Amino acid sequence: MELTTIVLQTPKGLRAEITNYGATLMRLQVLDKHGNLVDVVAGLPEAKDYESPLYQKQQFYLGATVGRYAGRISHGGFELEGTFFEITHKDGVQLHGGVSSLDKQLWKVDSVADGSSPSVLFSTTSEAGHNGFPGNLKVFAKYELIDTELRITYTATTDAPTVLNLTNHAYFNLNGKGSVEGHQLQVKAPHILEVDERLVPTGRLVAVVETPYDYQKMTHLTFDGHYGLDTPFVLTGPSPQATLFSEATGIVMEVRTNQPAMVLFTPQDFGIMQVRDKAGFKRFPAICLECQNFPDAPNQPQFPSAVLRPGAKYMNEISFVFSTK
Ligand code: GAL
Repeated sequence: MELTTIVLQTPKGLRAEITNYGATLMRLQVLDKHGNLVDVVAGLPEAKDYESPLYQKQQFYLGATVGRYAGRISHGGFELEGTFFEITHKDGVQLHGGVSSLDKQLWKVDSVADGSSPSVLFSTTSEAGHNGFPGNLKVFAKYELIDTELRITYTATTDAPTVLNLTNHAYFNLNGKGSVEGHQLQVKAPHILEVDERLVPTGRLVAVVETPYDYQKMTHLTFDGHYGLDTPFVLTGPSPQATLFSEATGIVMEVRTNQPAMVLFTPQDFGIMQVRDKAGFKRFPAICLECQNFPDAPNQPQFPSAVLRPGAKYMNEISFVFSTK
């Protein structure tokens, strides 16, 4: 399989570049209120840059398809139907499916469609035992542009019971530069999942009212004296479950999903990563809105089940819909 990049474009000015390395969203260009194209996701200059060991060591997952299990699994594994499956872990915790997971595979390009709703379909496999997970898994990632919408659909099947939680890990900044501090955010989430110092959910849901996590109404992002967000929000209510807006460009991004949670993550900086136009970024350069199941659901029976069985189809739908105001 060769490293390649697919470009999708609509007459409404939406343009995406996606590489088959990790089925990764490299670039997403959107028209702002002045008619200028703004690249709203952070990424590396070229597809081959994602293969560099130095980049991979940073564990940033820029725009990548993350799995087999997005977020953290505790206890060094999980029990499924009476068997304990030990997975690769560090001090009992695995992040994003473990080192060398779906985000670092070269996916197959199954099909590319042009026309009014251009799309690309990638697929990959993860063998039984990969990082400790049971089941031979077949995974598909479809990226589709419909007018001003980027729709990502993840589907998967397995030949033995397993757990699965995929997401897309794009880092958004609706100005294409500077900071996301000053952006406005709404998330229809009356609760967050409390996490411990390892960022593993404790099992407790915490009401957001009168906490800094209350984004139920449009709220300016400011992280004065905070470390920023690295928090699972429990979604309720109809889509769009989240809306991000920047006054400067007038770009509005609605997030629609069928998933029960959204992990919001705002790194303080990009570290040593050579992202495009790096000099233009400031503290809190971007925000990830990761639509997914609850982290550590395999160990927490009261969380929505992450079990996938043979004969069933996993389906995760994530839409980012753009407009200006
Ligand atoms: C997020 C996670 C963060 C961090 C990041 C990747 O999904 O919640 O803790 O690991 O991915 O750098």
